[in-house]
Amino acid sequence: MGDFSLEALNLDLNALFLLSVTVLAFLVPVVIILPPVTPQKSDALLQTHSLAGLAPSRSNLRTQFAPAAHEPRPGQPPRVQALMVYPVKSCRGVEVSRARVLPQGLEFDRLFTFAQLRSAFPVPVDASGAESDAHAWSFITQRQFARLATVAVELWLPDEMKLRKQSMKTNEAFLILRFPWQERGLRGLLATIGAKLTRGLRAVAEKEVLLPVDFPDADQIKARGYSYEDVTIWKETVSALNMSKEIPEELRLYLGVSNKLGLFRIDPQKLREVYHCAPRKEDIGWQPVCGFQDGYPLHIQNLCSVQTFDAQVPKDDELRQLSVLRFRPNIILSGGPAYDEDEWKQIRLRPGTSGLYNDALLNVSCHTVRCRLPNVDPDTGDRHPTQPDKTLRATRDIDAGAPRSGCLGVQATPLFEGAVTEEDRTAWVSVGMDVSVEERGEHFYLKS
Ligand SMILES: *[C@@H]1O[C@H](CO)[C@@H](O)[C@H](O)[C@H]1NC(C)=O
Ligand SMILES: *[C@@H]1O[C@H](CO)[C@@H](O)[C@H](O)[C@H]1NC(C)=O
Repeated sequence: MGDFSLEALNLDLNALFLLSVTVLAFLVPVVIILPPVTPQKSDALLQTHSLAGLAPSRSNLRTQFAPAAHEPRPGQPPRVQALMVYPVKSCRGVEVSRARVLPQGLEFDRLFTFAQLRSAFPVPVDASGAESDAHAWSFITQRQFARLATVAVELWLPDEMKLRKQSMKTNEAFLILRFPWQERGLRGLLATIGAKLTRGLRAVAEKEVLLPVDFPDADQIKARGYSYEDVTIWKETVSALNMSKEIPEELRLYLGVSNKLGLFRIDPQKLREVYHCAPRKEDIGWQPVCGFQDGYPLHIQNLCSVQTFDAQVPKDDELRQLSVLRFRPNIILSGGPAYDEDEWKQIRLRPGTSGLYNDALLNVSCHTVRCRLPNVDPDTGDRHPTQPDKTLRATRDIDAGAPRSGCLGVQATPLFEGAVTEEDRTAWVSVGMDVSVEERGEHFYLKS
């Protein structure tokens, strides 16, 4: 009797084993051919558009940590090593090998910013109802919400070839924002499995946000229900397009913003005017402007300076190497002596090995006075409690206009030589361009 039941159990186990093998053998190819991934917005865009920028494997910053790779070489001028644009302020950037320079900075740079709706606090006890109800949009950065660093931004540009194949026409470019997000329950689990199957074991489920890049015209603004709102950035108030409709509630939860979260698009007709250390309209014939950059159209870092500075920063488990991307530069140089840029006043980018034919003349407007933002690791979004801010203040307090602050890198404003009309105010910059320093001098930072 006992034997019999044991045999039956054995048989059952065998059958079960065979059944599982059969099911698995059937499922594996199904999962490979039809992975359990929900179609993504980028899948549709792939039919008509191409992803702009360099894949990580082709990044010109691959060598950024290589010892001595970015030190000056005898008889050779500094050169442009890499270029970055950040379509959404404080989010991940897009690395490009060439970029158009516009008066407000590199094309596609800092078009959008996130903001939070804040009450006018503190409000005096005798304030009127309207006063205490008053709310204002205030921009946010990684300083307050470090997870912004992990919001990936893809720039999708219309692809002539693909469009022709599809007999379609469009000039519209799009951004796709991605952030880690797993829905509850089975759907979330499937999304995570799908992510790992398609993008590797370390991949996590993500949520996507699709945004139009081009500034909508009046009809589109009305049709899509956008509106103009005032948003403050530092001490300035800008009237920008409220496109908060486009962002899901999940993003607010992911970032950890407890107030209302908004998304604003700079209006190319209402750019922020730049004064302080920028060239003056009287001298150059037009008013310098910027988008949602911190204060000036272009931000330049020199890898030799970053490496030299990095060597002084105490390291621990949370901070091993200082990526130049912590400083959010647009133009990254190699081969300039460490901290040489501190005294540049005007530089000319020449074609060098870039294959371009134009020069780009830049006014070096001021030192980049750092806030604590570089304490955020651009890969993980983790904020280091003290570094590199502490070392910056201790070793790079170099500008009498910004005492007790640390400076690294320089801010620049493009000068468009010989430009007569507004349309003439454009140039190209590219990796491989040479830098010639045309004017040197001392800087004095003027606070905004
Ligand atoms: C901004 O847009 C959002 C979403 O469309 C809307 O709820 C909000 O009222 C708009 N304006 C302000 C001031 O929040
Ligand atoms: C360029 O910027 C400097 C500050 O470095 C300023 O003093 C100078 O007037 C500017 N040059 C031009 C051509 O406007």
